[in-house]
Amino acid sequence: MNRETADEASQESYQRLVADLIEHDRRYYVDNAPTITDAEYDRRLRQLRDLEEAHPAWRVAESPTQRVAPLPLSEFKKVVRDVPMLSLDNTYSPDELGAFVDRVDRGLGDETPAFVVEPKIDGISVELTYDKGRFVLGATRGDGRIGEDITSNLRTLRSLPLVLGEAVDVVVRGEAYMDKADFVAMNTERETAGEEVWKNPRNATGGSLKLLDARECARRPIKVLLYEIVGGERHAATHADALGRLRKLGFPTAREVEVVSGREALAAMVASWAERKRQLPYEVDGLVIKVDSFAQRRLLGATAKFPRWAIAYKFPAERAETVVRGIEINVGRTGAVTPVAILDPVEVSGTTVKRASLHNWDEVARLDLKIGDRVIIEKAGEIIPQVMEVLTAQRTGQEVTPEVPTVCPVCASALVRRPGEVALRCENRSCPEQKWRAIQFFAHRGAMNIEGIGEVLAQELCRKGIIEDAASLFDLTVETLAPSKKAPADTVRIERMAKKSAENLVKALDNARTQATLSRLLIGFGIPHVGTVAARAIARRFGSLTALADAATDQRRTEVAAIDGVGPVIGDAVAAWFDEPDNARLVARLRERGVSPVEPEDKPRGSGPLVGLRICVTGKLSRPRSEIQASIEEAGGQFVNSVGKSTDYLVAGADVGKSKLDAAKKAGTQVIDEAGLATMIAGTPTPEPSTVPTRPE
Ligand code: IVH
Repeated sequence: MNRETADEASQESYQRLVADLIEHDRRYYVDNAPTITDAEYDRRLRQLRDLEEAHPAWRVAESPTQRVAPLPLSEFKKVVRDVPMLSLDNTYSPDELGAFVDRVDRGLGDETPAFVVEPKIDGISVELTYDKGRFVLGATRGDGRIGEDITSNLRTLRSLPLVLGEAVDVVVRGEAYMDKADFVAMNTERETAGEEVWKNPRNATGGSLKLLDARECARRPIKVLLYEIVGGERHAATHADALGRLRKLGFPTAREVEVVSGREALAAMVASWAERKRQLPYEVDGLVIKVDSFAQRRLLGATAKFPRWAIAYKFPAERAETVVRGIEINVGRTGAVTPVAILDPVEVSGTTVKRASLHNWDEVARLDLKIGDRVIIEKAGEIIPQVMEVLTAQRTGQEVTPEVPTVCPVCASALVRRPGEVALRCENRSCPEQKWRAIQFFAHRGAMNIEGIGEVLAQELCRKGIIEDAASLFDLTVETLAPSKKAPADTVRIERMAKKSAENLVKALDNARTQATLSRLLIGFGIPHVGTVAARAIARRFGSLTALADAATDQRRTEVAAIDGVGPVIGDAVAAWFDEPDNARLVARLRERGVSPVEPEDKPRGSGPLVGLRICVTGKLSRPRSEIQASIEEAGGQFVNSVGKSTDYLVAGADVGKSKLDAAKKAGTQVIDEAGLATMIAGTPTPEPSTVPTRPE
């Protein structure tokens, strides 16, 4: 296949390539265990595209190139279902949960139920229909009986299989959702691009799935997890079996599913989630507790609205009440001017909140927020504090309506609102605030990772005229950063910069110059819409800054737009960014200073001493969790956030909690300490079970 041209290839080799890519999609999106590099995947996908262009008649609907419909819809069709999608009754306390267990016990008479406990994913429920193993229909819940046909949007979700492992007719249900980290990254990108931000991952998912243009939906980081087989399959005897069957067919399912028997065990399990829920990558609003046995479920039946065999246990919303003391006006690195509420400090979800972004002035108006108001604060994606509601009934009359600014608070340029944007902007490219923020962003951990350049230093270097742009960082010397005592009296000095710190910074800069990758540089440029994923894909396609910077504008636009999952919006943004004279100058100045990175080929994942092992890390350790995660992944292992049945090892730090150890014991997960992990990474045999002191019971 490799050496054949697209014209010579056979239809059979085309079909083999489709099957091969589907299998690799499954390994990546469902098993979280890819066995080829992203670059290799891209290469095969390109090969597939070439074949389809040369032989359009061969193209099949399940081809990975066919996830995105080329044209927007004018409306969604309605889907009328025979088996309505029921909702769940809610409980809010252990007592109410106990009452549910009583009802189940009464309904079952002599039989003792086993319960499954699952996270209640805070997303959008969807129903997927497969015809002979092919995905043919995807619908929202709607009012339960009538939903909307959002097939073309659901097809774009990479974790949703377009073909199953077997050619069966089956209808399944589950939840579409966004991981917290993806949600935060997407919102940050939207805020800097002047677009409206989403309130929480659930709204973002719902809004994205209702977009009529599937190409736009394809750019949203939505995933699915399935939890129910409703039609076509009647093999399973229990929920646990059904989940196994779903996985076998190629569906992703939640890993954190536990079966418990008995009231005490159920109560203990529910209690253990108060802490565990924070470790899940997605937001949960509670737990779902279901009777495991399908025979018992049939005995219990359903009311008009709810099944009698399942219930939701809702976690208390982590909200807090406080007072808005003022509104600060923030100028971002792209000139977007955002109002920020200054609050009386208050605890929410374990941290003290003192400020909350109000995103834009439309939002301030929508909330009807005044300075002095009492407000309700919640964390979006459990991370970003947000003003949810103004308690207008509690106003005293002393509250002050905030004024919408008309000029930049830093450089006094008139603010503008671009068509189609919600943000007010300072369009002065030399606005001092934008400058230092752009430089700090260039250097931040997720971009060029130049340790030592934080907000304070970036601001000071700019203010004192020592640097003018990100390129001039590379001109810094130890002598400029920490001038010796003998330097002339009028030498510009940086406050509190010791010689040692200056040396470290110069070393870090030198490192960035020689070691940083093209994708890090692209992230550092802060091109609108270009986040980590797009930056990596673009960097892999072009290979080097030289190739990207020297390409003609049109070539840059079309090549970027053609990358799978990147698309025309980003193609235009990248082309426009490089064309802007200030940016072209920055690129030229970087290259003059030896900053001309390439993108290294990925190391094949799926090799290394930890391959096939799922490892969870907890407690105080000698290094940050992110570093330990990196070394686990480097060694081929899979880092997981919580202990479940399929977790192989729990690496426990000094202050490991009892609930974690209990969970490990229950799941049959081996507990090791940090040294044990190091031994495994070094490739030596599996360590003896725990050397970690177990807490007294
Ligand atoms: S089972 C008849 N399991 O919660 C039982 N639902 O309030 C149907 N949800 O509409 C639902 N995670 O969107 C089930 N593990 C889970 C769930 C889950 C989230 C959602 C689902 C449902 C809503 C009910």
